[in-house]
Amino acid sequence: MKGNVRSLLIKKQKGERIVSLTAYDFVTAKLEEEAGVDFILVGDTLAMVVLGEETTLTANLDIMIYHTKAVSRGAPNTLVVGDMPFGSYECSDAQAVKNAVRFLAEGGADAVKLEGGNERSVSRVKAIIDSGIPVMGHIGLLPQSIRQIGGYRVVYNDQRDRMLSEAFALQEAGIFSVVLESIEEELAREITGKLSVPTIGIGAGRYTDGQILVVNDILGLSGEFKPKFLKKYIQLDEMILGAVREYCHEVRGGEFPTEKHIYTARGDK
Ligand code: KIV
Repeated sequence: MKGNVRSLLIKKQKGERIVSLTAYDFVTAKLEEEAGVDFILVGDTLAMVVLGEETTLTANLDIMIYHTKAVSRGAPNTLVVGDMPFGSYECSDAQAVKNAVRFLAEGGADAVKLEGGNERSVSRVKAIIDSGIPVMGHIGLLPQSIRQIGGYRVVYNDQRDRMLSEAFALQEAGIFSVVLESIEEELAREITGKLSVPTIGIGAGRYTDGQILVVNDILGLSGEFKPKFLKKYIQLDEMILGAVREYCHEVRGGEFPTEKHIYTARGDK
């Protein structure tokens, strides 16, 4: 059966850990589904890890929906969450609903995620949920607000009251889960213990209900980027470089193609 938002809640209730990764294309999504992740986020990190931008701020709605469609096709049995990009929900509740609808209607997503737990964000969350679309919250480090924050900063316990009140306000608004990004472990643990909805951590320590990482990061496809919270499971960039270099070498040296790679008049397939 296709994973859904309720299955994440059941996992929390049973004390089972939730596993998630980002994906931005058909092939990766297909492999992630085969490997058994619980949900896939089509994150706005796409702007950085796929398109080479400096920040996530330039991920626009059409690009996000285009990639969400590819991911949904690749992982038809996995819960797919579309990340609402900067500029797609700031102006009004109506704008947020209109754009969230596009993620499901055009992108084939099952839910959307948006950043922030202040009054304005909570109002957007309520409006989207009211239109029948499940929403995942996101608190802690908010990459879409880096111009205001002044950089990618970890959230420590001195922000405890604000973090707890944002988490509760989002839960009250009806979110099915919340991402805790770059939060001191003890604070993330406290939030996780107090919420009934599952928390999904990235750089938030060991005690959240689930973990999410950017797929390019765990595969070793994001260059020198190596924050403390990241574990690289393979160094794919070196493998790709080796393969492409070998191909260049063989074509230039006349070693590829060989006889076994050619079509002949006999009509070989
Ligand atoms: O955009 C993204 O990839 C995210 C994750 C880092 C949680 O929001």
